[in-house]
Amino acid sequence: MTPSIASQSVVVTHELHGNILLVIVDNPPVNALGVEVRQGLLAAVEAAEMNDAARAVLIIGAGRNFIGGADIREFGKPSRLPTLPDVCNGIESCRKPVVAAIHGAALGGGLEVALASHYRIAVDGAKLGLPEVKLGLLPGAGGTQRAPRLIGVEAALSLMLSGRHVGAQEALSLGLVDRVGQSDDILAEGLAYAQELLLAHAPVRRTRDALGLAHGESSAPALSAARADIARSSKGLFSPLKIVDCVDAAVTMPFEEGLRFEREQFLACLNSPQRGGLVHAFFSEREVQKAPETRTAVPRPIHAVGVVGGGTMGAGIAVALLDSGLPVTMIERDDASLARGRAHVEKVYDGLIAKGRLTDSEKGKKLACFTGSISYDALAGGDMVIEAVFEDMAVKQAVFAELERVCKPSAVLATNTSYLDIDAIAASISRPQDVVGLHFFSPANIMKLLEVVVPARVNAEVVATAFDLAKKLRKIPVRAGVCDGFIGNRILAVYRAAADHLMEDGASPYQIDKAVHDFGFPMGPYQVMDLAGGDIGWATRKRRAVTRDPNARYVQISDRLCERGWFGQKTARGFYLYQQGSRTGTQDQEVKAIIAAERERASVTPRTFSHEQIIRRYMAAMINEGANVVHERIALRPLDIDVTLINGFGYPRHRGGPMNYADTVGLANVLADIREFEKEDPLFWRPSPLLVKLVESGNNFASLNQTA
Ligand code: 3HC
Ligand code: NAI
Repeated sequence: MTPSIASQSVVVTHELHGNILLVIVDNPPVNALGVEVRQGLLAAVEAAEMNDAARAVLIIGAGRNFIGGADIREFGKPSRLPTLPDVCNGIESCRKPVVAAIHGAALGGGLEVALASHYRIAVDGAKLGLPEVKLGLLPGAGGTQRAPRLIGVEAALSLMLSGRHVGAQEALSLGLVDRVGQSDDILAEGLAYAQELLLAHAPVRRTRDALGLAHGESSAPALSAARADIARSSKGLFSPLKIVDCVDAAVTMPFEEGLRFEREQFLACLNSPQRGGLVHAFFSEREVQKAPETRTAVPRPIHAVGVVGGGTMGAGIAVALLDSGLPVTMIERDDASLARGRAHVEKVYDGLIAKGRLTDSEKGKKLACFTGSISYDALAGGDMVIEAVFEDMAVKQAVFAELERVCKPSAVLATNTSYLDIDAIAASISRPQDVVGLHFFSPANIMKLLEVVVPARVNAEVVATAFDLAKKLRKIPVRAGVCDGFIGNRILAVYRAAADHLMEDGASPYQIDKAVHDFGFPMGPYQVMDLAGGDIGWATRKRRAVTRDPNARYVQISDRLCERGWFGQKTARGFYLYQQGSRTGTQDQEVKAIIAAERERASVTPRTFSHEQIIRRYMAAMINEGANVVHERIALRPLDIDVTLINGFGYPRHRGGPMNYADTVGLANVLADIREFEKEDPLFWRPSPLLVKLVESGNNFASLNQTA
């Protein structure tokens, strides 16, 4: 049970329950530690000190959480007193025992408040963690000093560097909490624990004095292992090394000095552009969930889903659905294809079993919810059907004709097409209002992004259902309009073309990949192509050859590789050479020779490009097409593009997505680059009207993020 204090207006209340001063933080939605909460907590501690009747203090959160952390919306604004470190120090200094009773989230500053308390109890469903690293920060209210003292250097580093959440039982075994309550009644559990401590004359017990800290030599291996790990993963992040430095300070410095060191490092992180990018990503990922249709329409209930096609995508989508607890019926063309589809699904689970992340019996339970058929009639009871057959309009329209025949009137009919015109698919049946695009990314059970593609005639309720499904699948939905490639693939096509131009103009694919990787992408465009298989793009290029503008620049290097059967990793060579079984490629002299021949054929005199020049072109192409996508209302706002590129295309999260990055570079600078490139290739480098308008009016992309 959660306490209700709706009748009180302040964000922190305190009142005596017998001899215990009950302090309730009530600052919806997540009890973040805004300035009023900070003031309220300190006032409550002072009240406890001054009130002789109060022999102990109990801190709990109202609603679903203890405390979700510092108020992220305050970052970057002038700081207001008291600071969170002051509050934590005030709590820890209290001369009466302070108990934190944790339900729901105790994250970041929330956990730091608990660490500064003298005793901690958590109930099932609690989530404890120090996820500041995910926002480009470090625990800045004593967390880096108290956590190692309480749970040891290694465990504290692991929590802070991963940012992961732990449940009540794990928190107990780590020593983060002293007890796990028997029920989920946080008030009753907290009061009973505080009472028990009073009866036992439990002393004030300050974490700053805790002995869990492994001093000197024994902590050195954990610290150097953490540093080496960070260097190896080399994601260019700013705060992880600072976290290790702070923990080092916890080992080597007196507590007060360690706190001061932590504060300096925290402020350095707070002022870093990475913090800006990561916080932008955090809020944007929440903003995209609020599509207009989710405000106006009620989603239809989804209890059972059909998937048509059991290939790469169909199987992955089936696994995503099964993992969320939804029963799935898969339809395939014939028995052999159905058996392959089922085998694809099983293979995913077998992979998890091999890694020890799933048991045989769990696999059995999931597969018990999976059925397959070669008759569409099996879909009659389904609330939603997701089509994932070949990327061919005629094949898809034939499937939708079957769906029209068998599906019940309330069923949502979704297509996973990558490029095809969903309006045309919808128009081919008598119920276009039920047709929506659900564009998953491969592997569909893993990738977070789900483009919800909204055709002209769809019912708002159907769109709301798609967003509801995304929530069930724990995916991040982005609303997109119908066009060739929707948001993500459309922008991808343009920046990939920019990379091809660079390659023909003189940069090697290896140099381009390195520049893009060093910018923060996990892989460069040619590594991605080798991984995905060059044949897929080749087929698309051949299909589009007839409609391609004959005046548009077309680089043929990829075609030359595909003609030789060099499709990438699966054929052991593509842009790179792959030793047997290896997923890391080496440079290929023959590829270099092919590129040289192509440059000659295209009468290009190769130039040299610095990494910076490569990134400027690559990013300008991405940003310009992003601006077009917003201009044409394919994306609601620039932030929708940021979320798409981060979650579907490996864009470095700490840069906040291409549109946020453009704002940090300055739109006038981006436009100046595009105008410069336009001189060489005016057809490709046409400045987006939206970009021009924003520069002329002195605005940035962020100014459009409020106006969906
Ligand atoms: N500050 C301000 N707003 C916050 C917030 C925070 N710390 N945490 C969440 N919110 C807001 C969200 O933006 C969202 O707002 P909206 O409704 O206007 O979109 C709303 O609260 C609800 O958030 P969710 O949709 O994420 O709700 P869930 O119930 O799914 O999850 C949660 C709750 C687990 C608390 C999740 O919101 C979360 O992980 N929050 C961030 C936690 C975090 O990173 N804390 C550390 C902050 S940094 C810090 O503490 C620094 C310190 O060391 C000095
Ligand atoms: P695939 O070729 O691996 O699988 C297609 C499956 O559909 C095959 O198993 C085939 O037997 C089955 N099929 C064909 N016609 C059928 C019919 N009439 N009835 C029932 N089943 C039929 O293709 P893949 O990669 O899974 O792609 C499927 C769809 O998903 C395409 O529209 C594609 O554009 C889209 N997509 C693909 C992505 C990828 O990375 N592969 C990413 C996102 C979308």
